Amino acid sequence: MFWTRFFRRKSLDLLVAETTEPQRQLRRVLGPVQLTMIGVGGIVGAGIFSTVGTAVAGGADHLGAGPALVLSFVLVAVACGFAALCYCEFAAMVPVAGSAYTYAYATLGELIAWIIGWDLILEYAVGNVAVAIGWSDYFQSLVAGFHWHWPAWLGTDVRSALQAAREIAAAQAEGVDLSTLGPTVLRDAAALAQAPRVGGWPLIFNLPAVLIVAIITWVLVRGIRESAGFNTAMVVLKLAVIGLFVGVGAFYVKPENWSPFAPMGFAGISSAAAIIFFAYIGFDAVSTAAEETRDPQRNLPRGIIASLVVCTVVYIAVALVMTGMVQWQKFSGVADPLAVAFQERGMHWTAGVIAIGAVFATTSVLLVFQLGQPRIFFSMARDGLLPAWAAKVHPRYRTPHVTTILTGVGVAGFAAMTNINEVVELCNIGTLFAFVLVAAGILVLRRKEPNRPRPFRTPWVPFVPLAAIVSCAWLMVELPWTTWRRFFYWLAAGLVLYALYGFRRSRLREGSTSAGPAARSD
Ligand code: ALA
Repeated sequence: MFWTRFFRRKSLDLLVAETTEPQRQLRRVLGPVQLTMIGVGGIVGAGIFSTVGTAVAGGADHLGAGPALVLSFVLVAVACGFAALCYCEFAAMVPVAGSAYTYAYATLGELIAWIIGWDLILEYAVGNVAVAIGWSDYFQSLVAGFHWHWPAWLGTDVRSALQAAREIAAAQAEGVDLSTLGPTVLRDAAALAQAPRVGGWPLIFNLPAVLIVAIITWVLVRGIRESAGFNTAMVVLKLAVIGLFVGVGAFYVKPENWSPFAPMGFAGISSAAAIIFFAYIGFDAVSTAAEETRDPQRNLPRGIIASLVVCTVVYIAVALVMTGMVQWQKFSGVADPLAVAFQERGMHWTAGVIAIGAVFATTSVLLVFQLGQPRIFFSMARDGLLPAWAAKVHPRYRTPHVTTILTGVGVAGFAAMTNINEVVELCNIGTLFAFVLVAAGILVLRRKEPNRPRPFRTPWVPFVPLAAIVSCAWLMVELPWTTWRRFFYWLAAGLVLYALYGFRRSRLREGSTSAGPAARSD
């Protein structure tokens, strides 16, 4: 029947067999420590270094948690923990690049797999657009610390510049002191004033964001071993800097800053949770390196759980110290809250070190996400849902170079032109949706294939997958309506593309996989 084709499933045996096709094999070099490093590399970044500021103090479309941010972190860690246990069962059972996309193909059918693959672009590529912009902001503050002012028109996007000019005009009309608008608004307005004109239009784009994405893309095309080594160095460095923040900051905590503990009540705690979820995204990226992992059945679950535990401990410590050092209202409109905590206490030198740490931290996040996205495209192309040229592996480096370069060009292009806040929320909703589908996949597969060997079993099924679904759905509901609208448009565009291309060209439809017969539509 026509509609059953939408639910054709790829057998798990076929999925695993396909990874052994010689011309499509990636190098298996990663062990548990490197995987944990990839996880931590992907998790600790722009979330804890920048978005945490608006999570504490609130923003234009959401409330802040105040010192109760620590509770937001705990709640999100619990939600991510449930989802991580579901990812582990799949990652160990289907150790194939492609993450949630691949799991959905084996369990929920092709249509849902396509939706999730398309949705994961929000997590990886759109998430990386946000991180690249965050990287650029920290880079600009860093060079400003050395008294070199990066040209404003080469450090932001044109829409933010126009918006800033409107805010300044409104503030001037109302006689408001411009310095209360915050340094980012002032910089963006300066960009508009200083920008060269091309045909009357202001030339404004985020050059540092483009450059860092270009460098990362080059590293990734060169090879996974080199990339993992680079990542490990970055992770060690950023954990050291966070250790410095917590270790030194702890001596400056004034317990009275923790009172009132939850100024906006539970509404503030949950609204902040939906924002700082961004800080946890990345543990699932470990699963995208499945085809490059030695003994993936054992090592993937270890890598995923270990990286999540490390990051949760780090975040709780940072949240306690940060809100203990400075009154929570002081983080309003601040893009570099951890550095500001020290500046407020007059410790400019330590603030500078934290800023350097933030640049390294966001670099390693960029690396992990730029590593994940091409592998998802690669898996989709291998299945025929994207054109075959996208599944090519570089003859010398054995990396999916075509999709790596395409991802680099796309992320750099959008990072040059987009506003960070919009992309963070879009990334969060897309990732949460993927988590919901993965948890649902666990329930489906336990019922459909109860006897399939599971090297790692999610404990307390159905409680854990159901808890993952409910908690992630709760975080999605906390996101603003604009984000939902954009999310629906994105999914609709994906469905049109599937109807025009993937549905017709799927290798399951053609029944032409080199690894043997495939389609299941039961
Ligand atoms: N978790 C990643 C970060 O905070 C996305 O940068």
